[in-house]
Amino acid sequence: MTTRRDFLGALALPALAPGLRSTSRPRELPAPDGTPDEVARDEDFWTAVAAEFDVDRSIVNFNNGGVSPAPRPVTAALARHLQAANEAPAYVMWRHQAPNREAVRAKLARFLNVDAEELAFTRNASESLEICQFGIDLARGDEIVCCDQDYPRMLTTFRQRVAREGLVLNLLRIPVPCEEPQKIVDAYRERITERTKLILCSHVINLTGQVVPVKEITALGRERGIPVIVDGAHAFANLEFDLRELDCDYYATSLHKWLFAPIGTGLLFVKRDKILPTWPLMACDTKQDADIRKFEEIGTHPAGYALSVSDALSFHERLGPARKAARLRYLRERWVTPLARHPRFKLNTSLKPGLSNSLCNFAIEGVDSTALAAHLFEKHRIFVVAIGHADCTGIRVSPSVYTSLEEIDRFRDALDAVAANGLPG
Ligand SMILES: Cc1ncc(COP(=O)(O)O)c(C=O)c1O
Repeated sequence: MTTRRDFLGALALPALAPGLRSTSRPRELPAPDGTPDEVARDEDFWTAVAAEFDVDRSIVNFNNGGVSPAPRPVTAALARHLQAANEAPAYVMWRHQAPNREAVRAKLARFLNVDAEELAFTRNASESLEICQFGIDLARGDEIVCCDQDYPRMLTTFRQRVAREGLVLNLLRIPVPCEEPQKIVDAYRERITERTKLILCSHVINLTGQVVPVKEITALGRERGIPVIVDGAHAFANLEFDLRELDCDYYATSLHKWLFAPIGTGLLFVKRDKILPTWPLMACDTKQDADIRKFEEIGTHPAGYALSVSDALSFHERLGPARKAARLRYLRERWVTPLARHPRFKLNTSLKPGLSNSLCNFAIEGVDSTALAAHLFEKHRIFVVAIGHADCTGIRVSPSVYTSLEEIDRFRDALDAVAANGLPG
C-alpha cells in the first residue's frame, strides 16, 4: 500500500533539482555594526568568520594568495553537487547541473557589472589567460608588451609563441615599491611601438601586491587599437572595482584565490566584439564561434565546481568586500608597523591607500630570503613564499580572513628576533 509519505516523496523527488538536496545549511554570519575599518577590529565577527573554515591550525598558512581554502558553505555545496552527479552522471550533469551554470553566470555578471554573455567558466587564471594569449592571431614580427613582474607562466606562454611564430616580447620594468601609479602607465606607454599588437598587464602584481592602474593602461591600448589582456588573478574579490569601467578586452582570474571558491575554478571575461576573433584553446563547432561558451568546450568535467562558485560569491557578499579588504589591511598593519622600527626591515610593497591590499613583500637586509622562509617554517611552522625576482627579492606574505591575531603576533615576534639578531647559526 502506498503511504502518504511515499506518495509525497514520489512527488517531491522530480521537483528537486539534483545537487540541491541540502544536507547542511550555511550558518549565518553575525551582522556586524560599524564602518569597514571599525569592523576590521571586531574580533567576535572575525572569530565567527574563521569558524567557517576547516583549516589546519598546526601550521600558520600565510600563502593564501597562492590558493585559498574554501569556507564550509562552499565545500558543502561542492560535496552535494559531486555526490548528486555521481548518482547518474550523464543525466544529472548534462540535464540539470550544466544548465544551472547559467544562473551562476548571471550572478557573477551582476556582481562584475558585465553581460553574462561575456563570461566563461574556466579552471583557473592560467587557463583563462592562455585562452587569450594563444587565441589572438598575431603575425611574425608583431610585438607583445608586458611587465617582467607578470606571472611566470604567462611569460612562458608568450615565449612559446615567440619561439614558434617569430613574435617579439617587449618586457618593461616597474619601480619597487611603486608609490606613483603614473610611473607604471609611463612604463607601458614607452614600451609600445608601431609594431605592438597585444598588451598583457596584471591588475595586482603577484610578487609584491602592487596595484596596477589598469584603466589607464586599457586606455593606452584603446587609443592605439591594441587589445589588452588583464590578469586579475589577485584582484578579483580582493580589490573593489567595476569590470565594465576598466574597459578591457579580456579579464582573466582564478576564483580559488580571493573569492574562496573551490580549488580548480576560474573565470574569463571577453568583451562581446572580441569573442568571434578569439580562438578557443580546445576546438569548438563553428555554430559556437560567437558564443562565450566556446571557451568552455573542454570535454567531460564536473559541473559542481562552477555551481559552487555561487556559494562562494554569496559568502563573499555576506562578509562584505569592503570589510574583508579592511580586515586584511588591519592584519598587515599589526605586524608591519612594529617591525618598521628596525632599520634593516624593508618593504617591497607600497602601503599607500589603493596601491596594495592583501599581499605584502618584505626583506630583512643582510638576511637571505630563502633561508628566512625556511627558518620560519622549520622553527615556527609559518608558511610563506620566498620571492626571487631581482627587483623585489623578499618574502611574500598573504594571511586571510580566517587568520587569528595570535598567528599574526607569532609571525611578528619571529621576524622581530631575526631583524634584531639575524638567523640562528
Ligand atoms: C598574477 C597571477 N596570474 C596568474 C596566476 C595563475 O593562477 P592559477 O595557478 O590559479 O592558474 C597566478 C597564480 O598565482 C598569479 O599570481
